[in-house]
Amino acid sequence: MILMKDIIREGNPTLREIAQPVSFPLSDEDRQLAADMMTFLENSQDPEIAAKYQLRAGVGLAAPQVDVSKQMSAVLVPGPEGEAPILKDVIINPKIISHSVQDAALAEGEGCLSVDREVPGYVPRHDRITLRYQDVEGVSHKIRLKNYPAIVCQHEIDHLNGILFFDHINKENPFTAPDDMIILE
Ligand code: CO
Repeated sequence: MILMKDIIREGNPTLREIAQPVSFPLSDEDRQLAADMMTFLENSQDPEIAAKYQLRAGVGLAAPQVDVSKQMSAVLVPGPEGEAPILKDVIINPKIISHSVQDAALAEGEGCLSVDREVPGYVPRHDRITLRYQDVEGVSHKIRLKNYPAIVCQHEIDHLNGILFFDHINKENPFTAPDDMIILE
């Protein structure tokens, strides 16, 4: 199982690489990696398991974060208490095929399992995206996302392109935003 020690941190060059496309059918190794990444997210969101293994809660984990430079990210955005997740899949070879002009950012900024420090500031994202990806079976999906799940996917896709969330923060004025940017509470 993936533990915090398996997650590489900023400064490791793998996090700055462009990840390689994944071919299908998945190799046994890739299939296992996909399953392990999703299990990590599930465990990290389970208070008891997370405490036992000292996992930081996460909603996304990209393969480069476990030092595998492949275009694969697990995403698990929980729904309201007792309800199904809003988004749960391993997105492979993901591409944003269109997006809103409208931008949005999380009021609290973003965090990352590969960044062991708070980096305050708005991270401007597209508010709505249309995402194309393949699942572990190689089936293509085209989904529309808005607000938080859209931001999570953009953060995870950035990892596949060597980009970390703080790259997007305005260095001089981290909490300045254009008037028309939506701030998501
Ligand atoms: Co991250």
